[in-house]
Amino acid sequence: MSTTIAARSIADLPAQHAAQPKTAAQRTARYFNTGNAFNIKLPPVPDHVFTDEPLRALDPDTPTGLIECDLSRQLDIPVSATTPLSLVRYARIRAGERLTTRFTASGVVVYVMTGSGSATSGEETVEWGPGDVFVLPGGVEHRYQAAPDTDAVLWVVTNEPQLAFENLRAPAEGEAPTPVVHYPADEIERQIELIYDVGRGSDIAGSALIFSSERQESIRNVLPTLTVAMNSLPPGVAQRPHRHNSMAVALIIRGNGCFSMVDGKRKDWSQWATTITPPVAVHSHHNEGDERAMLLIVQDGGIYYYTRAMGFSFADV
Ligand SMILES: [Fe+2]
Repeated sequence: MSTTIAARSIADLPAQHAAQPKTAAQRTARYFNTGNAFNIKLPPVPDHVFTDEPLRALDPDTPTGLIECDLSRQLDIPVSATTPLSLVRYARIRAGERLTTRFTASGVVVYVMTGSGSATSGEETVEWGPGDVFVLPGGVEHRYQAAPDTDAVLWVVTNEPQLAFENLRAPAEGEAPTPVVHYPADEIERQIELIYDVGRGSDIAGSALIFSSERQESIRNVLPTLTVAMNSLPPGVAQRPHRHNSMAVALIIRGNGCFSMVDGKRKDWSQWATTITPPVAVHSHHNEGDERAMLLIVQDGGIYYYTRAMGFSFADV
């Protein structure tokens, strides 16, 4: 049997089906070509800034719970997502209250914006306070308890959209690619001072502290996919403009008088906002204030390193 083809180019062909399928497996096959397979128009990752979500998370009237930074509709992704592979949430836990989570993710990255308390994963408990970073294995229940005297607000990042993309389940208990890892605020401060004491050449993009763990030491990450960095910027300093294929979600911790330039557009910083740096966009951070700026950055950089496709370059050469 021959098929009448009216299309003038293979680009105009609809998906082709088997002419005489003999089995269900043959019937479900679809055929595309070089003209029509690569012209899907995905909406780009926007250089969005989330400011309402942190305001709600910090509002004393907001009950204990999670607030998503969700761009799934803009990104045309069927699950909640901040970027195609990551999801950011703010967690508010009222004084003395508990919050229980279980994410279908390989791991969870947490930064403590305000308050103190504990987080329990399996047999382990992290006692956290303001400025701490900790990483928890995905796929298991995490129980957060805020201290009795102050409300707590946490910034929580997972790679749930990455697992959802491949329809993967969360790792079983004990099989996540990370154990519980804790980076207390005073140790983070000490490590940043060490970076400034030693100094760097202009061939290095910034003075960021990169978090890793014994398990992930060889790849300098906290998770195979996710890279976590505390970027700091002294007063009067501008980062060299650069680009890379990984995309970033960042929490602005401190940054009066700071702004970012993203593809020529100025983005002023506001404390506790979550800001997206799209992939390949030329970007730089600028501090025109009088204190050291701090920005916690989570990137899907691990996947680009692993696939040898980071595509890093300075844009001013
Ligand atoms: Fe960057």
